[in-house]
Amino acid sequence: MELSFAPMEGVTSCIYRQVHKELFGGADRYYAPFLAPDGQGKVKLSALRDVLPENNEGLLLVPQILCSAPGPFLALADELAAMGYDEVNLNAGCPSGTVVPKHKGAGMLGDPAALDAFLNEVFSRCPIRVSVKSRLGLERTDEFAAILEVYKRYPLAELIVHARDRRGLYQSVPDLHAFRLAYEGSRAPLVYNGNILCPAAYNHIMSTFPNLEAICIGRGAAANPALFRVLRGGEKLRIEELRSFFRLLIERMLAYGISEHFTLGRMKEMLYYVNHMFPGAKRELKQLQKASDLKEFDAALALLLDSGRFDPDASFPGTLPGLTEENA
Ligand SMILES: Cc1cc2nc3c(=O)[nH]c(=O)nc-3n(C[C@H](O)[C@H](O)[C@H](O)COP(=O)(O)O)c2cc1C
Repeated sequence: MELSFAPMEGVTSCIYRQVHKELFGGADRYYAPFLAPDGQGKVKLSALRDVLPENNEGLLLVPQILCSAPGPFLALADELAAMGYDEVNLNAGCPSGTVVPKHKGAGMLGDPAALDAFLNEVFSRCPIRVSVKSRLGLERTDEFAAILEVYKRYPLAELIVHARDRRGLYQSVPDLHAFRLAYEGSRAPLVYNGNILCPAAYNHIMSTFPNLEAICIGRGAAANPALFRVLRGGEKLRIEELRSFFRLLIERMLAYGISEHFTLGRMKEMLYYVNHMFPGAKRELKQLQKASDLKEFDAALALLLDSGRFDPDASFPGTLPGLTEENA
């Protein structure tokens, strides 16, 4: 079974992906955070730079598009094909309040007929393979039966199901009962996504759904960048690896031309996930969030890393149905 790193806008940039691959590895593929094209299918140069092949050497990357109009989707897919990509992923899961009302992301799931019309046009003209990353529904997970019927009409390269509806954002407990519909009915290779935050959750999904194509992990790996390695039976995360990870991320962001101010913001965003590997380090974490420049951040980071509170078995909080203390 393959393991993939889920897209996380604001976190898993090309720099993050490269550094992650260099220091930890273990992910068979990475999905780039979404590109949101304008009416002509154009995206900002800074966004396009994230998926340029020269910024993603040595890793298998699938770019993702957030768009519900076939024209711009196809124009951008053409551009990605010209860069050498052979697959593009459709975002049918973004829950953002600025996206959903425009019928994009998870907003595409509210009207299966419109989703069908979109896919019909995309699949008749797209020069490369199309995979879909979908939630189970907009308001309720029982919407998924009708959504799956639409997906079944097209030769999706892969169907990644984030086992929540849009209302569940990132908090609700994944609905494995509704996910089973995809497991039993999907014609496309199926990928599970949602709350794989620790080895026990991974084992639980593997034993419940043994024939999955892959498991896609976001926050669990953002919290513990060695998670893929651990799931493959490798060594636990070491504190010195985290030190190198942060140092390299900062160095590479600055070298890429990202301002100090923006780099600091990005690092704080990453720390939000890694925090969970330091249970009880409230004071050190507060200091990190207060850092007003990279020098202060470095000093606060050293305090955190040397606090003695690092626990390589800790994980981002969240559970799965049927996952108990006993089987953890
Ligand atoms: C900060 C953040 C940014 C995200 N950005 C994207 C994105 O660009 N495209 C996408 O399909 N999903 C995005 N997601 C959703 C994740 O890919 C994933 O589906 C979700 O976090 C559930 O998986 P997890 O429990 O393994 O984190 C994002 C999630 C978070 C928390």
